[in-house]
Amino acid sequence: MCGIIGYTGNDNAKEIIINSLSALEYRGYDSAGMSLFTDNGISTVKTQGRVSELRKKASVHFPENTFCGIGHTRWATHGKPSETNAHPHGTDNVMIVHNGIIENYKELKKEFDDSLFYSDTDTEVIAKILDKEYEETHDPIKSIINTHKRLKGSYALGIIFSDIPGTVFALRKDSPLLIGTGENGMFIASDISAFLKHTNKYIRLEDGDTAMITKDSVRIFDTDGNEKSVKHETAQRNADEIQKGGFSHFMLKEIFEEPDVMKDTFSSITKDFLPDFSETISDDSFFADIGTIHIVACGTALHAGLMGKYFIEKLAKTPVTTETAGEFRYSEPILRANDMAIIISQSGETADSLAALRMLNEKNIRTLSVVNTQGSTIAEESEKVIYTLAGREIAVASTKAFNVQCEVLFILALKIALVKNTLTSDETKNILHSFSTVFSNSIPSILKNTAPFEKAAKILSECNNAFFIGRGYDNYLGQEASLKLKEITYIHSEAYAASELKHGTISLIEDGTPVIAIATDKKFFEKMRSNIEEVKSRGAVIISVCCEDADIIKEISDCVITLPSEPSYCHPFSAATAIQLLAYYTALEMGRDIDKPRNLAKSVTVE
Ligand code: AGP
Repeated sequence: MCGIIGYTGNDNAKEIIINSLSALEYRGYDSAGMSLFTDNGISTVKTQGRVSELRKKASVHFPENTFCGIGHTRWATHGKPSETNAHPHGTDNVMIVHNGIIENYKELKKEFDDSLFYSDTDTEVIAKILDKEYEETHDPIKSIINTHKRLKGSYALGIIFSDIPGTVFALRKDSPLLIGTGENGMFIASDISAFLKHTNKYIRLEDGDTAMITKDSVRIFDTDGNEKSVKHETAQRNADEIQKGGFSHFMLKEIFEEPDVMKDTFSSITKDFLPDFSETISDDSFFADIGTIHIVACGTALHAGLMGKYFIEKLAKTPVTTETAGEFRYSEPILRANDMAIIISQSGETADSLAALRMLNEKNIRTLSVVNTQGSTIAEESEKVIYTLAGREIAVASTKAFNVQCEVLFILALKIALVKNTLTSDETKNILHSFSTVFSNSIPSILKNTAPFEKAAKILSECNNAFFIGRGYDNYLGQEASLKLKEITYIHSEAYAASELKHGTISLIEDGTPVIAIATDKKFFEKMRSNIEEVKSRGAVIISVCCEDADIIKEISDCVITLPSEPSYCHPFSAATAIQLLAYYTALEMGRDIDKPRNLAKSVTVE
């Protein structure tokens, strides 16, 4: 997703902005640029490709003594990735950087002669509107507010006016935007990691806010132009956590953090081995009389939702629907007054998930979000929120957040089961006692021996296609395993319920086609063996991810990844770690850009 940074202060703005753009690279982008105030007015430099390219250009383009400016990493939405379409965009009077999508930009663009535009972006249209408003009002705040009232869509803007040196303006609607307040200057950013090295004190802009920052002041105005009080917050995170800590990739570091973050989350939502959500849900009545639960999310978070469906239906005997947010919000879902919606999101800013949440709020459905980013928009706008304590997840491909999302949903299923009396307290305590060995023993033991994953990776890295098969929750894990593999290796893969493969897709199986069989649920071992034989007889190479006692699976597999001996409640979670490592080592074998895969963004804040 696009990254925004703005700075004004006593330090070297060129260095600060370039380094901040580097800190935002993990969000995914295809071009970058920056505009700085110089003695000769605003000067701009842009590049297609990496921030390192921009750094080279900036070092010769700008003088050393710069103190104010804006920067941007672009993830293309309107207009192909190119230097021309890179931000900042503007006119002689104003330059802006933008994260989001302007839905009515074509209509607004008609107000101007087409020859006045140099790019294919919606952002340039905002700049033209703003320039026109500023020409008429000569008031920066009024011109920004007037512009805001004409735009439709989602946007976070960083703005500088040529005749107001040393001042950065900002405007927020839907796309997140923060103000960082440091001792040597002030920042605007789409993400705290952009200025975390300088300050962990920040202000979160709300929808419709216009901000004006100078090196020692912050003023915020509402859509009527009235100045608002400023709510300061302090981030718990420190700059250290965003270093790799000796691992070759953030993704591997984050997989290795899974035992600790699962333990932290377990401690935060259980007490004496019983579910305890009282930190954010003080009254159990929130869980009473639930009709149907609708789980809504995107990507990996949706796959965690599938696991949640399995847990809640099995343990709490409560019907659950799951749907990708982008479909749910337009599908006119069948909702009843006593239903509950669960929105799952690592970033808490995914546009489709946020839109679905807002629709559910409008329909007065009780909403619970499972979110990893404290104070994010989805967390703030849900009726209740349960935080996953996975810590900052830098790698674009989600791993530890997925495991912790599944853990929260598992414990939530137990909570609902207790409220609905489908489980007794003693039964629940026994389950959670068994489950807790997943982060004290199982996953740590998997992490100690990565050789099986490296062996399987050598097979997969030679292939262009791969198929995952499983039954029950193993099928859902296969969905996530397939996404992980695609995301970071670029190998095409599909995941199927093992029973389904023979209804068509088996035609694609030929000599050497890799089929990854996930078999961790004992009741399906026989059936899985039959499904494996069906594909093996057609030339498939079998990689199995299975339990220690799955001998009938192992004996017909070409490569086996065995889970440690563990209680059955641990299997879904240790298998999740296994499939993540399988994707990681395959990508490593292929020399892929593992933490920043092509075309991907960490948080998709546009539709
Ligand atoms: C995860 O590996 C992907 N990068 C992506 O599918 C992600 O899970 C999805 O965009 C949802 O993001 P969220 O959890 O922040 O809402």
